[in-house]
Amino acid sequence: MIPERIGDWVLRELPRLNQAILQDHAPPELLITELDEHVLPDVPEVTRLTPLEAQRLVVNLGFAGASVARHYQEHTPGGIRHPEHAFEGLYAGAERIPFRAYFAALAEHTGTGHYDRDSFASLVRWNVGTIRVRLGDEVLAELPGVFEDGRIRSYTGSGGEERFFLLVKQGEAVELAVNELLCPLTRGNASLICADARHGVRLATVLLDTLRRLMVEFAALPPGQAMPAEHFMDVFRQFAAHWTLDDIPPSGALDPEALKRDFLLGLAVENYDQQARRLFPALLAAERAELATLMDQPTLPERLLAALGTDEHELRLCDEGDLRRLVAHHPALVDWYRLLTMHARAAGAHLLLAKKFLFKPQRLRDEAGLGDRELVSNRAGTTGMTETFLERLTRARQNHALAALRPVISSENWENGIDPQVRSGREAARPVVVELAG
Ligand code: HEM
Repeated sequence: MIPERIGDWVLRELPRLNQAILQDHAPPELLITELDEHVLPDVPEVTRLTPLEAQRLVVNLGFAGASVARHYQEHTPGGIRHPEHAFEGLYAGAERIPFRAYFAALAEHTGTGHYDRDSFASLVRWNVGTIRVRLGDEVLAELPGVFEDGRIRSYTGSGGEERFFLLVKQGEAVELAVNELLCPLTRGNASLICADARHGVRLATVLLDTLRRLMVEFAALPPGQAMPAEHFMDVFRQFAAHWTLDDIPPSGALDPEALKRDFLLGLAVENYDQQARRLFPALLAAERAELATLMDQPTLPERLLAALGTDEHELRLCDEGDLRRLVAHHPALVDWYRLLTMHARAAGAHLLLAKKFLFKPQRLRDEAGLGDRELVSNRAGTTGMTETFLERLTRARQNHALAALRPVISSENWENGIDPQVRSGREAARPVVVELAG
């Protein structure tokens, strides 16, 4: 059993302490003292916890650890070069196990292969409650959390942080629904052009449009109803400081469903698989295994074109007449083209968010001579992705394996969202709902 007050402390006291320290109303040592007196002595021996309890404690201590790492490095000259020193003198449980060793044992005890620091899984998926993706009353995907209190834990208790975690988990749940439609199509004998496959591809397109809309709508909200960019840059992101020099801090780049989709649909970016493999330690074991399998397989567009007796290279050499004949003969190509195009449009919406909340305001700061944050740079994402790199990823998704078909596939009605033809069929009248369940 985890004493209830640890969870309460992370929900109530930690945000208060973090705010006080950030506003210079309290010294950073106060966080250490509070953890030392009120939280860490109470943590149970790891082996006495169930895996679910271990997951909950990973979330809670993940927030605590991130706070310790941040304040130490911001207040200690040279601290950035020795982030692990932040945890010296911090012991957990009656046996006084060093904090990071206890956290690593806890992570292992979850049985999920979780990383030995906070992660996308702990901050987003486990922290936020169950997200359900529905089409009418049909549940397409459900992504559970590990708490049943309907609360979202955050660093400073701000609505913006909660809304950010919620948005990312909603996005991940929609992406899961997409992947659950696409993954069965990778099986050896699956037809990619039969009526069922075409239906699944159309539904996946509707879902990616839902993802795109979630992001565009978040970007359009007034700052107080989303998250002010300054808060994202100066408060939120600074908690993604290193715990050790070469660890992988939490990032949207660790969203496993997005990575899976890239390997299902293909992404012509050099060494993309090596780059994804570098993120493996920060993923869960099942995610690593699924990704490794997908990386070793041909992509769905490759399989599709092979089944039609062609390939991407040949397609790019075809003239318009050839392309028209091909599409007339295999109308499923239209569905796949629209899926890949919507995948790129969702990436475009994400790029908009990254520009709005990070890259543009940092450019303005640079132009005004205000410089950058010392701890977590706002000139790149936490795993080091720059604006140029995100633009490159988006362009590569636009230049997808079926992009050569563009001249012969109508782009009418795409201006404000999905082509109504894609929504024909049984999903036509039913809206996609992405809701926090319970
Ligand atoms: C306000 C909202 C968001 C902002 C400001 C934002 C910002 C960023 C930034 C700066 C990066 C680079 C990360 C790095 O270097 O590690 C990134 C990457 C990424 N983010 Fe987000 N993000 C937002 C929402 C989301 C959502 C809702 C999702 C998906 C559910 C998501 C998924 C990703 C993915 C998959 C990447 C890797 C790059 C790619 O594949 O294009 N992000 N994001």
